[in-house]
Amino acid sequence: MDTETEGKAAAVEEMREWCVALPKVELHAHLNGSVRNSTLLELAKHLGDKGVIVFEDVKDVIMKSDRSLPECFKLFDLFHILTTDHDTVTRIAKEVVEDFAAENVVYLEIRTTPKNNEAKGMTKRSYMDAVIKGLKAVEDVDVELFGSNFRTNETLSSKLLDGVTKKKKIYVRLLLSIDRRETTSAALDTVNLAVEMMDQGVIGIDLSGNPVVGECICNVLCRETYLPALQHAKNMGIPVTIHCGEVANRKEIQAVLDFCPQRLGHVCCLNDVEWKKLKSLMIPVEICLTSNVMTGGAPSLELHHFADLYNAKHPLSLCTDDSGLFSTSLSNEYYLVATTFGLSKFELFQLAQDAVQFVFADDVVKKSLKEVFKHAEKRLLMWDELAAPS
Ligand code: IMP
Ligand code: ZN
Repeated sequence: MDTETEGKAAAVEEMREWCVALPKVELHAHLNGSVRNSTLLELAKHLGDKGVIVFEDVKDVIMKSDRSLPECFKLFDLFHILTTDHDTVTRIAKEVVEDFAAENVVYLEIRTTPKNNEAKGMTKRSYMDAVIKGLKAVEDVDVELFGSNFRTNETLSSKLLDGVTKKKKIYVRLLLSIDRRETTSAALDTVNLAVEMMDQGVIGIDLSGNPVVGECICNVLCRETYLPALQHAKNMGIPVTIHCGEVANRKEIQAVLDFCPQRLGHVCCLNDVEWKKLKSLMIPVEICLTSNVMTGGAPSLELHHFADLYNAKHPLSLCTDDSGLFSTSLSNEYYLVATTFGLSKFELFQLAQDAVQFVFADDVVKKSLKEVFKHAEKRLLMWDELAAPS
């Protein structure tokens, strides 16, 4: 390697390290989309040994890295076969939190679709209890699920700060997802479950699922619509986030903007009028770069609508969507923004810090998170000077 190539490789390495050290807020992560490949393979092997699936077929599907939107949803059906029992749900919930904490995510909203599975004696409630059991089982990291007693001076990549590894802390909150394939009454059950579990870390509702199946949100005359459930959440004071514009469904995008949820995911396929409306409403957007490029919602990283929203100072936050499925991490999403759009470390820090404003957790949590950023600021913004040889 010549000196120039070596210098470039070192700069890449240094920037990646910085993005990992940056405290981050993750607002859009699906539980089953964030499972480690190694865990999926282990589960698949187990089911293969029992003759439930053919392991060799499944292995190739899990290890494939480029996926279209329809392929993703085929894969989710497979994941749901692999992760149906309570113990497995507990295991993946635990591992997902550990993985986000390892990336210095200090606040994590995990969303998941509560599932009924009669064969396993699983109800939506017992599924969620299994998720919470997993969050409580995390040992290497302090997980704050209900309270707000987050101490800021012992968090974040302390190892990078002073060479001593201390136990990290992470706030975790839960959003219950309504799958577009569900009926109105099943969607209402999910909202009612959220109401019931508000004191157990559940703080919001998400509408997700394959955007090319299911009823359109706007079809209020049809009984199979999600609007009653979303409206019920709104009436109960539960914040709502909606997957919006993954495909160019004009009527639905219009209806989602009219509903005016607290946050929106993706917003890929909006036309000029819809862009204008989104910007005037100032609804914070969960930006998922890798996911959008891989599933075709954005033509490329360079042409991703992040740049337009960022330049317009629209509220936004970088997210992973499905870190396992798309082989990404939140640190990597920040790195991609730096390398694709040329944001400086200062601007990346601001971007990460601004996301605190859009969390669904209460003001006490927000205040603690602001302290976390304040504490990390000097170290991260003086990184280059600190790293420079004396
Ligand atoms: P789960 O809710 O924990 O089972 O996570 C997987 C589910 O999240 C999938 O079955 C979808 O319903 C939803 N999901 C994950 N990624 C996407 C996406 O990019 N668009 C829409 N829905 C998604
Ligand atoms: Zn999503």
